[in-house]
Amino acid sequence: MPETVLVTGGAGFIGSHTCVELLDHGYEVVVVDNHVNSSPQALERIAKVAGRPLTAAHDVDVRDRAALSAVFAAHRVDAVIHFAAHKAVGESVSLPVEYYDTNVGGTCTLLSVMRRHRVRRLVFSSSCSVYGEAESGPLTEHSPVAPTNPYARTKLMCEQVLADVCAHFAELRVLALRYFNPVGAHPSGLLGEDPRGVPDNLMPYVAQVAVGRREELSVFGADYPTPDGTGVRDYIHVMDVAEGHRVALQHLDEHSGMQVFNLGTGTGTSVLQLVNTFARVSGRPVPHRTVGRRAGDVAALVADASAVTAAWGWTTTRDLTAMCRDAWQFQQLNPDGYSSRSSLAAGPTTGESPCS
Ligand SMILES: NC(=O)c1ccc[n+]([C@@H]2O[C@H](COP(=O)([O-])OP(=O)(O)OC[C@H]3O[C@@H](n4cnc5c(N)ncnc54)[C@H](O)[C@@H]3O)[C@@H](O)[C@H]2O)c1
Repeated sequence: MPETVLVTGGAGFIGSHTCVELLDHGYEVVVVDNHVNSSPQALERIAKVAGRPLTAAHDVDVRDRAALSAVFAAHRVDAVIHFAAHKAVGESVSLPVEYYDTNVGGTCTLLSVMRRHRVRRLVFSSSCSVYGEAESGPLTEHSPVAPTNPYARTKLMCEQVLADVCAHFAELRVLALRYFNPVGAHPSGLLGEDPRGVPDNLMPYVAQVAVGRREELSVFGADYPTPDGTGVRDYIHVMDVAEGHRVALQHLDEHSGMQVFNLGTGTGTSVLQLVNTFARVSGRPVPHRTVGRRAGDVAALVADASAVTAAWGWTTTRDLTAMCRDAWQFQQLNPDGYSSRSSLAAGPTTGESPCS
């Protein structure tokens, strides 16, 4: 019998690509999403791209214990991938209660419902933002953590909750994956990143400038100690992130308790390198202007991605050109994203996160 995976936040950017990856590999997939930051249209696109439907999709808030429990009662769930969370760094500063409630509270509710239904395998979305003020070299899973904003603190708290729960319930298996900067889109151009308001991250902003939706990109600081002076990040193709989750499921049972892995490429890319690659791939100019550094930004955040390769024999395969090409394809085919939807805050979020 194929395994059934329950994917919270399955209509979102990373969740939707992971659903396709799971369907492509024979899993049954049940989605739970309240669409606070996604369109139900993404669910139709998942089925179209994969060529087969999701087992079910439930419009449920992960904080709603009774509704979530009913979902678990309706399906024989073998494992959970927990993406559902709020993720905008800037927004988390102005809406901290909402962030702690959804990200930490939602994870706690999920854990108690999983326990009630005897589901003991979980892959959790963590973030490189837990490292905060980075050390100078590539970040390993043992680098010190020092989150600098509420969003990042919710992710670290969730990791701590998961570690404590694993220490008490020996049967629980958890893999927490700290993503660096997921970008790109499904190569079909049917699925991609569809941010509400002003994009919080660099790649969708660049894509919107290239397509003419925005005038120019502000580059925050060109005086960092990096080769061209602009900030360096570790961009990872969203299909590599999706594949990483599918491979993670296969390794969940190898260790008891909780394990933490970075999910990055180990390659640093500066803002200007990304902008120039995007302009070359799209054949469109990307007007940009240097402005001052932004508070809280750091010069470089790059993963040491070797632990996951050593543990699983798996590595990322898609390069920056593929990331830009696929993001551009999605932008061209969906100039206004999927559709209109509700939003958490009244206004758009501002600024762009070094790592959400
Ligand atoms: N995208 C990044 O740069 C990045 C980097 C590191 C970690 N992450 C983490 O990865 C996960 C997925 O990120 P994403 O980029 O796909 O974000 P996203 O906003 O596109 O997807 C999150 C999904 O969760 C849903 N959701 C939010 N609150 C919910 C709730 N209470 N109940 C049910 N569904 C809810 C949203 O509607 C959305 O579909 C998040 O946990 C995020 O913190 C993202």
